[in-house]
Amino acid sequence: MNRQEAIDFLLDHYENPRNQGEIEHPDVNLNGGNPGCADVISMQARFGEDGKLAEIAWDGEGCTISRAAASYVTEMVQGLSPAEIENITFEDLMNQLGREVVMTRPTCATLALGTLKKGVHEYDMRQRADNADYSDTHQH
Ligand code: FES
Repeated sequence: MNRQEAIDFLLDHYENPRNQGEIEHPDVNLNGGNPGCADVISMQARFGEDGKLAEIAWDGEGCTISRAAASYVTEMVQGLSPAEIENITFEDLMNQLGREVVMTRPTCATLALGTLKKGVHEYDMRQRADNADYSDTHQH
């Protein structure tokens, strides 16, 4: 992707946001903000019985890059497991968004992914705790 293509790609996500809104019964529901600006991006996700992402949405107020990146992140994680989402690095995202264009605003570009990863991590921890409780019940 050259610079112009990267800009067009971001603008398309900004102008035609994918998966913006809310979902019902989210497993992940977290707001994220950046120090230094008042923008807040919320991320919601629900996992299916197969353990893969079933539904995802983002919403909130943010600058062009943070909104475009939030829209893109919701496409990037389709069908992934919590562990796979947690393994996506900010580098991966920046490369896919077009490093040249988002490099000057890394905190904006990674706000949605960082928020989603944090929420997914918390969800994963809760699941593990629940499973541990469950096996305890059956051992004793
Ligand atoms: Fe606030 Fe970009 S300026 S997220």
